[in-house]
Amino acid sequence: MHENKGRLEGKVAIVTGSTRGIGQAIAEAFAREGAKVVVASRKPEGVEAATRKIVDAGGDAIGVPCHVGKPEACKELVEKAIARYGKVDVLVNNAATNPYFGPMRGLSLEALRKTFEVNIEGPFTLTRIVLDHLIERGAPGSIINTASVLGTMASPLQGAYGMTKAALISMTKTLAMELSGTGIRVNALAPGLVETRFASALVENDEIRESIVAKTALERVGVPEDIAGGAVYLASDESSYVTGHVLVIDGGWTIG
Ligand SMILES: NC(=O)c1ccc[n+]([C@@H]2O[C@H](COP(=O)([O-])OP(=O)(O)OC[C@H]3O[C@@H](n4cnc5c(N)ncnc54)[C@H](OP(=O)(O)O)[C@@H]3O)[C@@H](O)[C@H]2O)c1
Repeated sequence: MHENKGRLEGKVAIVTGSTRGIGQAIAEAFAREGAKVVVASRKPEGVEAATRKIVDAGGDAIGVPCHVGKPEACKELVEKAIARYGKVDVLVNNAATNPYFGPMRGLSLEALRKTFEVNIEGPFTLTRIVLDHLIERGAPGSIINTASVLGTMASPLQGAYGMTKAALISMTKTLAMELSGTGIRVNALAPGLVETRFASALVENDEIRESIVAKTALERVGVPEDIAGGAVYLASDESSYVTGHVLVIDGGWTIG
């Protein structure tokens, strides 16, 4: 898969939610660039298939089933990565959920909590575990949070989701400042509309899709590979002077 020296050679990366969509594209791109990749999501069969795909293509990967809303599972994920590869250098907090589609007035506390559990408590827990590991090793590292352009503007009918992505951007910036002096960088990706199962309700709704495409300078919906390039950059040493940044990848949807 990688005859030439890749941009992530020697790095070990955990990518959550990497069995399909954006996370899978990131995991595959990381492996092509020479990283050792830890594939993680809830469903073991999905984890196995996505890991096998990388290995069959010549990459180095292991799979660990992990529900990021469960702190014990997050701990185990990092432990298994270290047991297999000896260290972790890069964490991509990519898994997310969006259980409620509708106006905020109808949003239950239960759905709000669920959204925060997966989209915020998960990244928070995993980040803290990986930070302890990096700081103990005295090693630099890169934490990448998959946020969304919906974390930077109003997100009608997806209020709870937008709140979590705004919180993730805030967490990214604050951590980047607090980690001054450690060599650990923290950045976020903010995709626009990307064709995945997660976004199928939007992408497959002609009216919504067309209204977004009409406002998008590059006149199309994104594909997962559009986002993976940004993740490779933020994981690699090419971005060694970049921290606390929110990299918008939306085809120009939110230019203004
Ligand atoms: N698609 C878009 O338009 C868009 C736009 C902006 C931002 N994003 C963000 O991009 C990220 C990836 O979304 P996507 O569109 O690629 O979604 P997707 O294709 O539906 O993939 C979601 C992945 O997350 C895993 N997952 C879901 N819940 C999980 C949990 N609790 N713990 C661990 N893994 C979990 C899924 O596998 P299992 O079912 O096996 O757990 C799957 O691998 C999310 O953070 C999303 O908010 C997406």
